[in-house]
Amino acid sequence: MDTKRERVWEILRENVAEEVLLKHCIAVEIAMRAYAERYGEDTEYWGAIGLLHDIDFEKYPEQHPLEAPGILSRYGYDQAFITNVLAHGLDWQPERTLLQKTLVAVDALTGFIIACALVRPDKSLDNLEVKSVLKKMKDKAFARAINRERITEPAEALGVELQEHIDFVRKALADAVKKPEYQAIPLIG
Ligand SMILES: [Fe+2]
Repeated sequence: MDTKRERVWEILRENVAEEVLLKHCIAVEIAMRAYAERYGEDTEYWGAIGLLHDIDFEKYPEQHPLEAPGILSRYGYDQAFITNVLAHGLDWQPERTLLQKTLVAVDALTGFIIACALVRPDKSLDNLEVKSVLKKMKDKAFARAINRERITEPAEALGVELQEHIDFVRKALADAVKKPEYQAIPLIG
């Protein structure tokens, strides 16, 4: 089971071609790494979960995430890794672990934050304010595909205050997009 970013990225690319989905996986990876660091957890492992959590979505959108176990086990990922991926499913019943709660809490939020940055004149994550994100959450016409409850409820389940959570993830994304490893497929642009 390889959690090194280079190999994980290769595996993702073998299963996902759409740039939109790749960008989503990268954004979730970035947020997972940031929270892993904050919680004193394994950043590489949490990042790998973030990158691979939607590995079956492009090929099996209807079955997602139930096709992920087959794909991930073919690449040698163990049951614990697979369970972490499965646990972000909407109808997952067992109590989620810290990692699993974090994954759900950043899944929809990352895309929403990026959508907020993209409508700014400078398209910048650096200058995006929390109050502007909160305001856009109330604007039903904005990024209507993103269910706001999939941002607020998992944040509550994780036990993080919404404003602080938004700013933490925003900053993680803003810092990461400046790094060389995130230049190949820019999140913004
Ligand atoms: Fe996702």
